[in-house]
Amino acid sequence: MALPDFLKQLDDLVADAVQAFDSASDSESLEAARIEFLGAKKGRLKAAQKQMGGVDKSDRPVAGKRFNETKKQIDVAFKAAGERLAGGTQAVAKAEPQFDPTLPGTSLRIGRLHPITQTIEELKDIMGRLGFSVADGPEIEDEWHNFEALNIPREHPARDPLDNFYLTTAQRTADDKTLLLRSQTSTVQIRVMENTPPPVRIISLGRVYRPDTADATHYPMFHQIEGLLIDTHVTMADLKSVLRLFAVSYLGGDVHIRFRPSFFPFTEPSVEADYHWDDQWIEFGGAGMVDPNVLRAVGYDPEAVVGFAFGLGIERLCMRRHGITDIREFYKNDVRFLHQF
Ligand code: PHE
Repeated sequence: MALPDFLKQLDDLVADAVQAFDSASDSESLEAARIEFLGAKKGRLKAAQKQMGGVDKSDRPVAGKRFNETKKQIDVAFKAAGERLAGGTQAVAKAEPQFDPTLPGTSLRIGRLHPITQTIEELKDIMGRLGFSVADGPEIEDEWHNFEALNIPREHPARDPLDNFYLTTAQRTADDKTLLLRSQTSTVQIRVMENTPPPVRIISLGRVYRPDTADATHYPMFHQIEGLLIDTHVTMADLKSVLRLFAVSYLGGDVHIRFRPSFFPFTEPSVEADYHWDDQWIEFGGAGMVDPNVLRAVGYDPEAVVGFAFGLGIERLCMRRHGITDIREFYKNDVRFLHQF
C-alpha cells in the first residue's frame, strides 16, 4: 500500500472516530463507538495497524509515527467523551442539595422592634394596668390644639416661629388655619376632652417636633408620653402616686418621686417631677393639675371636675433604662446598635 493512501486512511479514521465519540449521547453509544474504533480484534484502529504491514519498508517509520499519533488522538477523543458523559451526571448530582438532616440548623438574623417602639409598648402595658387607655392624635396640628386650648395665648413666647415647625401656607386648610408639627403630646388632651365627657383616663404616646440642634440629649423629633386623668375628686397626691407606680414598674425597685414647683400654661399648680435613681435625682418630666382655663376651653365645668396631666420624654426613659448616652443613636439606623435590644 502506498504511503499517501495509508496516511489518508488514518486521517479518515481520526475524523470518523472523533465524530463518533463526540456525538455519543450515553454510555451505550459510547461503548458501541469504542468497539468500532478501539476494539481489540475487529476495531478499525486494529485493522489500520495490520495494513501498516503492507506499506513499503522505507516508508514504515513515517507510517508508524503517524499511526501512533492517530491512536493517541482517538484515545483522547474517547476519554473526553467518557468524561463528558460522567461530568454530565456529576453536574446533575451537584445541583441537588447535599442535605444532611442531622446537621445543626443555620439560624436566621431576625429583625426586632426599635427600642423606642419596645419602650412605648411597655409603657402602654404599665399604664394599662393602672386603668389608662391609649388615645391618638395627629402629628400635624392646628394652633387651637397645640396652643390656644392649652391656655397658650397668641402673644406667648412658646408660639415663637423659631421654637416651632410651622408649615407653609401651601399646607393651610380651607379655613386658613395655620398648621404646625405638634410640639407636645398635650394636644391629645384637648382632642380627647373635646370628644368625650368626663371622667377621662388616657395616655397618648407619639412623636413631637421642636427645632433643636441635635446633640447628645436633643433631637428635632422625639417621643412623649402624655397622661390625663379627669374626675370629680383628683388631687396632687393621686398624681404623685400614679407617677411613682409608673416609675416603680418601669425602672424596678422602690423608686421615690419628688416634685419641684414649675410653670406650664395648661396646669396650675405645675411641677417638674424627678425620680431617685443611683443616688441621684433625675428629671422625669412636667406635670400638674389641669388649669381651669383648659377645662373651660373643651366645654368642661371647672367647678364640677378636676384632673391632673403629665408629659414625659420617652427617649430619656429608654436611655436611662439601657445606659444609652446619646439620643442620636436611636435615629442612625445602625443595625449594630439596634440589634442589642
Ligand atoms: N407638655 C409639656 C412639655 O412638653 C409637659 C407637660 C404635660 C406638663 C402635661 C404638664 C402637664 O414639656
